[in-house]
Amino acid sequence: MIKDYGIMLLLAFAGFAVLGLSLFKSMDQDFVKYQKQYYAQLGAGDFSVEIRQVNVKTPNGNMIDRCQSCHVGASNPDAVGFEEPLAAHPVIVPGMEKDLHNFAEIGCMVCHDGNGRALKKADAHGEFHDWPAPLLVGKQAQANCNRCHAMEGGSLAGAEEYEKGRDLFLEKACWGCHTIAGISTSSQAPELTDAGGKFNFEYLVESIVEPAANQANTKMPKFDWIHDEATVEALAIYLKGQQKERLRSEESAPIGYVKPVSDVARIESPSVEAGRALFAGVAYEGSIARGGCINCHAFKNGEGDSVGGNVGPELTYTIRARGRQYVRDHIVNSRVHVADSIMPTFKDYNAAELDSLIMFLSTLGFERQASAGQQLFENYCVSCHGEKLDGRGPVSAMLDPLPRDLTRHQFVASYEERFKTSIKDGVKGTAMPPWKDILTDDQIDALLGYIESKSADASDQFVRMQVTLPKPGDVDRFKSRGKDVVVEAGDPARGYDVFQRHCTSCHGKLANGKGPNAYFLVHPLPRNLLNKEFMNQPYVTDQRLYESILLGVAGTGMPHHDDRLSDQSILDIIAFIRANTTEGTE
Ligand code: HEC
Ligand code: HEC
Ligand code: HEC
Ligand code: HEC
Ligand code: HEC
Ligand code: HEC
Ligand code: HEC
Repeated sequence: MIKDYGIMLLLAFAGFAVLGLSLFKSMDQDFVKYQKQYYAQLGAGDFSVEIRQVNVKTPNGNMIDRCQSCHVGASNPDAVGFEEPLAAHPVIVPGMEKDLHNFAEIGCMVCHDGNGRALKKADAHGEFHDWPAPLLVGKQAQANCNRCHAMEGGSLAGAEEYEKGRDLFLEKACWGCHTIAGISTSSQAPELTDAGGKFNFEYLVESIVEPAANQANTKMPKFDWIHDEATVEALAIYLKGQQKERLRSEESAPIGYVKPVSDVARIESPSVEAGRALFAGVAYEGSIARGGCINCHAFKNGEGDSVGGNVGPELTYTIRARGRQYVRDHIVNSRVHVADSIMPTFKDYNAAELDSLIMFLSTLGFERQASAGQQLFENYCVSCHGEKLDGRGPVSAMLDPLPRDLTRHQFVASYEERFKTSIKDGVKGTAMPPWKDILTDDQIDALLGYIESKSADASDQFVRMQVTLPKPGDVDRFKSRGKDVVVEAGDPARGYDVFQRHCTSCHGKLANGKGPNAYFLVHPLPRNLLNKEFMNQPYVTDQRLYESILLGVAGTGMPHHDDRLSDQSILDIIAFIRANTTEGTE
């Protein structure tokens, strides 16, 4: 119980003071100041200052919108040229004599987002932390036209940026990886049907411009055109407009309904021209072609200049190197050839579209008269392996596995033979193409000579121990306890256990090369041991696996295990790896 009346009095007094102060503050709010300023500027003598509120009915309840408490002149043509927030609203639909949008009914938030209840500018504009819908400024407001207008197809005056973004989504190959309901059906990346509901404008821009900002090791490509602000903004406006709650049917559309563009014109008879249009993602016979290979792939034109993007390999020689059927299968599902390919799956193409692409790709080809190793390397290899041969060419970032760092080729004693085979036949399960139909034996020898001359360790060759794969019945050379233990055939179940203990930090529990430490190694990444195409090449023998596990792969992050694993354990692991990758297993 409080006995000291003095203190109580003091408390009561303090209470009054706070109340008084807040009353005083409300009289001093910004909108009061703005409204006084506004009427003074209009020369109006008689006016009342008030909170101006609009209640807008939406499918999700009432939207309270007090923006016009500050933005008092929005609907007043006499306020043209006033300073914000007092000015008349700029033209929304160019060329329309009288704008049909009545701010007294629909307020401002329907188009601009923000926080309509708030009466402080920063709060109202949604600038405080984590407000889900910060202000959309200028043309960004076009993201919201589809609250009331059907925007799936057709065109709406004043919404040109949104429509440009809708086209770009198809032209720039986004559709190849992302689903937007009614537009595309790819499952390779997060669905974007509700992108605008989940993410703010800034996040969307960032996802396009700097995909790795939100997720390191992202599989979202960083395209060459991201410095073109107009393109990025239009795409982000379009994505901001994708909000699930707005999906509408013909009946529920308040103002007009246009059919979705899902029926993009299909190509029915194959031609080089159609293939060229698909490749470039440009209109063909009047309608937009769904393609956009050129965003990722370059080719050499007649002058030998590269045109196109650097996300995937250059395709100048691909038909010759791989053959038509391989390329066709690759377009439909690249993962049948390269387990970790990020290339979109174009499973929706019809036969005529695939034929068109193959016909177009078959027209490519560029011969550079060259015999010296360096010239050959610059023409055929540099885009992946890089000028310094370090495996970091412009195309390398999105390849998995990464191109080999050829300056560190000391990892096998007989690298020359291995490299020669790899250059001729390619490395299956990876982006390394076979060159035997493009380059002569002499040219390949010249390339090997060049690679050797560029090796950082050429003078200090790694000399490999001679080891031979143990066979059942041999004595285990590495068994520490108990001598003369005899090796038996590898057992996959035991191999699994050893693998879980020693290998998962890099290769992952599933052996797919994506363990928690994988990305610390940088280059090359741990091998995906489930990559059947790679594991079943004739030269990836048990002998090679044994050597690599026992001795490590020098020049890479793959450690040696001679101090930790017995012969028996290594044979068990090999049996485990083989059981995963034998043809016919899943
Ligand atoms: C407390 C007063 C106040 C309130 C409430 C307010 N604004 Fe503003 N607004 C301003 C001022 C002042 C500016 C002038 C530009 C600036 O200082 O950012 C402005 C500018 C703007 C701009 C132009 C921004 C730019 O960068 O060009 C838009 C759009 C806008 N407001 C929309 C809204 C919307 C929508 C609401 C309601 C959700 C709202 N405002 C509520 C004071 C207010
Ligand atoms: C029907 C949609 C719509 C409504 C409703 C709407 N605006 Fe806009 N507003 C736009 C568009 C679109 C632009 C960009 C015009 C341009 O520059 O092309 C714009 C531009 C502006 C600008 C100029 C600065 C800028 O961002 O480019 C201000 C300020 C602004 N609006 C404030 C308001 C306020 C305040 C209200 C409510 C009274 C409001 N708007 C209601 C669509 C709308
Ligand atoms: C809150 C709902 C609402 C939003 C949001 C909205 N509009 Fe409208 N719009 C209307 C209404 C209502 C009309 C008047 C329709 C009528 O009278 O036929 C209209 C009419 C129009 C018209 C003229 C009629 C027509 O169909 O050609 C155009 C153009 C237009 N709006 C463009 C836009 C643009 C651009 C945006 C986005 C920046 C937008 N609208 C956002 C409600 C909206
Ligand atoms: C090769 C496939 C691929 C293509 C093509 C692609 N993306 Fe992505 N995108 C991804 C992946 C994968 C992610 C998820 C990030 C991650 O986990 O790596 C992503 C994430 C995003 C996100 C963030 C979504 C989220 O949930 O955080 C946006 C936005 C986005 N992409 C927009 C685009 C746009 C716009 C285009 C076309 C210019 C495009 N993407 C093309 C694969 C792709
Ligand atoms: C988002 C980027 C992207 C788009 C769009 C894309 N690709 Fe690819 N593509 C890649 C990447 C990365 C690789 C390398 C990994 C692999 O081999 O799958 C690749 C590989 C290929 C290969 C195999 C080349 C070889 O020699 O092994 C072919 C053929 C190919 N793409 C054709 C196409 C065609 C045709 C299109 C358009 C219909 C297309 N790509 C669209 C990224 C893309
Ligand atoms: C499309 C990208 C690409 C191009 C073009 C390319 N390579 Fe490769 N290369 C790779 C990748 C990826 C690997 C890694 C394969 C692996 O994981 O073992 C590789 C591996 C190699 C290897 C090591 C093979 C091994 O057995 O370990 C050699 C040698 C090589 N490339 C030489 C060349 C030469 C020479 C050229 C030009 C004639 C060339 N590459 C062009 C992507 C490419
Ligand atoms: C510190 C990370 C790390 C650990 C731990 C690790 N590896 Fe590796 N491993 C790698 C890297 C990196 C490569 C890729 C080397 C290359 O491309 O030449 C690789 C490659 C391999 C290869 C392919 C070798 C070849 O000749 O192409 C096999 C098989 C393999 N690892 C098995 C294992 C097994 C089994 C274990 C556990 C006993 C293990 N690794 C532990 C990082 C690791």
